[in-house]
Amino acid sequence: MKECVEPLLEWYYKNRRMLPWREKVDPYHVWISEVMLQQTRIEAVIPYYERFMAELPTVFDLAQVDEERLLKLWEGLGYYNRARNLKKAASIIVEKYQGVFPSEMVDALALPGIGEYTASAVLSICYSRPEVTVDGNVLRVYMRLQNSFENIDMISVKKQVRSALAQIIPKEAGEFNQAFMELGEVICLPNGMPKCDICPLKDFCKSRREHTFLNLPVRKPKNAKKNQKYTVLLFVCHGKIALHKRSDEGLLKNLWEFPNLAGFYSEKEVLQYLRDCSISVESIDTALSYTHVFTHLKWSMESFVITVSEESALYVWEDLENIVQNYALPSAFQPFLNHLLGSDRI
Ligand code: ADE
Repeated sequence: MKECVEPLLEWYYKNRRMLPWREKVDPYHVWISEVMLQQTRIEAVIPYYERFMAELPTVFDLAQVDEERLLKLWEGLGYYNRARNLKKAASIIVEKYQGVFPSEMVDALALPGIGEYTASAVLSICYSRPEVTVDGNVLRVYMRLQNSFENIDMISVKKQVRSALAQIIPKEAGEFNQAFMELGEVICLPNGMPKCDICPLKDFCKSRREHTFLNLPVRKPKNAKKNQKYTVLLFVCHGKIALHKRSDEGLLKNLWEFPNLAGFYSEKEVLQYLRDCSISVESIDTALSYTHVFTHLKWSMESFVITVSEESALYVWEDLENIVQNYALPSAFQPFLNHLLGSDRI
């Protein structure tokens, strides 16, 4: 593996992408970008990152942000607890470290939401600490280089990779880590053909020699996702739409949603339900069906647009523009918002 270091760094210096968090080495920038990158591809992260930094340019701003606003900035990225933890960690950084991200691994790991990956990314990139970052890209590249068929979902295998890379990490630790991840993102691609012909490590790659790279890395088979059915009620009352705040526990806690019922309801069943809630209906029409896939779960959703003449006190009523600007609505509900935005009846 040692002979890979030089060609990898050389490739990175020539080919690295100009990303907004690389413009200047700042732990706050690197921290936020790395947390966003744990769940989303680089191209999709960039607009989120820019919006976040425009509104919260320093760790002091993050420590003070209102949770509703923070969730709105995070809207669509998923894993909303990560955003809440960012704020908690920012408060500690402000109070305990005068606003400077700690440079010791133990201190970084003690912050809410900061695990080995984020801590080692910030410390290596910003403070040149010899800490290895192991993400899915690094694991894929490593297993292919070594032609290893070990299961990368096992913690012991990740540990093995981490300690093997710790043996060869150069003094340019941050560049090395980013080079490894970037090679996985742009050359050693996961689905389909990796671009071996332009890979700086092709001469060292055992799986290329053995023609096994398409079978690597090995992962444990995924469990089937649980499927839940919902009927989404898109109430319209004189241009305003009904929203409901989710409970403060469980999936998507404290985020906003369109009112919905567990299970698929026919039009007749919805009307019966609304009569039971004393909501009188002017019109009802079948609308969008959409299935949203979470990490461990699927939501199959059917919907109705329901016009009413009175705002039921069960819900919060807002116009569409206000919803778009100010309410954190998870991705699962965005297609319904788009449906309403495209409707000529509102
Ligand atoms: N993927 C996640 N973090 C990255 C980084 N800092 N550089 C390149 N790819 C990454």
